[in-house]
Amino acid sequence: MRVLPLLALCGLMTFAACRPDEELAMDGTIVDINNGTDTGGDPNTGNPSVNIASLQELGRLLFWDPALSGQLDVACATCHHPDFGYADGRALPIGVGGQGLGPGRFDAVNDDIGLVGRNAPTIINTAFNGMDVNGNFNAGQAPMFWDNRAQGLEAQALLPLQSFEEMRGHAFDESVSLDSIVNRLRANDTYQTLFAAAYGQQNTINATNIAAAIAAFERTIVATNSPFDRFQAGDSNALTADQIRGMDRLQQIGCMDCHSGPMFSDFQLHVIGVPDSPQLATSDAGANGTYAFRTATLRNLTETGPYFHNGVGGNLQQVLQFYLAARGNGGPGPGGPGALNVNPNVSRNDLDVEIRNLNNFNNNDVQDMIAFIRALNDPDFDRIIPATVPSGLHPGGNIE
Ligand code: HEC
Ligand code: HEC
Repeated sequence: MRVLPLLALCGLMTFAACRPDEELAMDGTIVDINNGTDTGGDPNTGNPSVNIASLQELGRLLFWDPALSGQLDVACATCHHPDFGYADGRALPIGVGGQGLGPGRFDAVNDDIGLVGRNAPTIINTAFNGMDVNGNFNAGQAPMFWDNRAQGLEAQALLPLQSFEEMRGHAFDESVSLDSIVNRLRANDTYQTLFAAAYGQQNTINATNIAAAIAAFERTIVATNSPFDRFQAGDSNALTADQIRGMDRLQQIGCMDCHSGPMFSDFQLHVIGVPDSPQLATSDAGANGTYAFRTATLRNLTETGPYFHNGVGGNLQQVLQFYLAARGNGGPGPGGPGALNVNPNVSRNDLDVEIRNLNNFNNNDVQDMIAFIRALNDPDFDRIIPATVPSGLHPGGNIE
């Protein structure tokens, strides 16, 4: 078996490795939550009275319930839907006031709420955000968002509720939005019962516990049994010849300088010069106005396009050809019409050195690399949609 300077998720997570029911503790060790410990507390918060299985199911209901949005029309699942690999299949999302799902979703209300300014990333495997080449990571510090501005799934979970375009809308001021949602859930008997069951105590509905439940659910949405993972685990037939060539090329060309480790991301910020979206009025200058964005994972891309922080990469071909432009003189790659050029706001010297130093590649390499990226896809993730949610509203919001 060939040795790669990277580790597969399954390879390093030994015993509970490829099971969707694993849970990650704060210190990065793996705890098998179904190993007789269902009522044994929450390994992330250390709260001993938590029933983790109940907490995860509560988190699923919260994730799907539009009661968490100001105008009762948007749920987390509106933009992170299993039919689109827990993303939304759109370049830029429509949150409040939208109707429909995926590319066909449209703005159904004539108001001042426009598109969300960035592409919705998948939540598959966000349980592993921040994992380094050795498999080490810290769940509480796990980088979140395209510019890494939030740390940990728990902290992230409360931010969409307060975002005007995503979920809050005109229902309440940002300063009271979280309290308003908490009060709404407290007034719901089903939520009272479900929180009591998960936390082992009455009156446990508060922002911290809402966030912990959503995060516990998100950590069950994992996909770690791709053909590549099986190959790493010793099944030499799991990859085709072109996929193996693509894997080698990804390494030789320099892609893995950034797309490294078990998640095929170093989770660091880099300036690669992706062009601005024609759908947005202003330029998105990324982290700290430097045009830096976080390296995206290469896992499960088959279902999570369009690509890049603003969805300008319509397909993998277009994305890979962008790198030819970026390594060269900033001019168009060989993609012909529709090819992406380097963002004119980013000068050549501002581009990361790893981008400027990428080795040249041709169209055969592009096809092989795409074949390998497809081998990082594991379609066998939890796609369960709850039939009902405690508010009685439509699960997922106005997505019909
Ligand atoms: C209207 C669409 C929309 C809704 C609703 C929404 N999100 Fe997101 N989500 C996004 C976008 C867009 C981003 C990226 C934003 C950025 O990077 O600035 C994102 C980022 C994330 C991330 C970070 C992933 C990563 O790898 O960095 C997580 C986790 C997440 N959302 C979970 C949730 C949860 C939980 C909810 C509900 C409480 C929710 N989202 C509601 C659009 C949405
Ligand atoms: C300097 C670090 C770096 C190098 C080298 C690099 N990338 Fe990336 N990659 C990134 C960053 C950062 C993003 C996100 C950029 C954005 O959205 O603005 C990204 C995004 C992507 C995406 C889009 C994924 C998604 O979900 O949106 C793909 C595919 C990709 N890279 C493949 C490659 C390939 C193939 C190579 C080699 C030809 C490569 N990358 C080289 C940093 C890098």
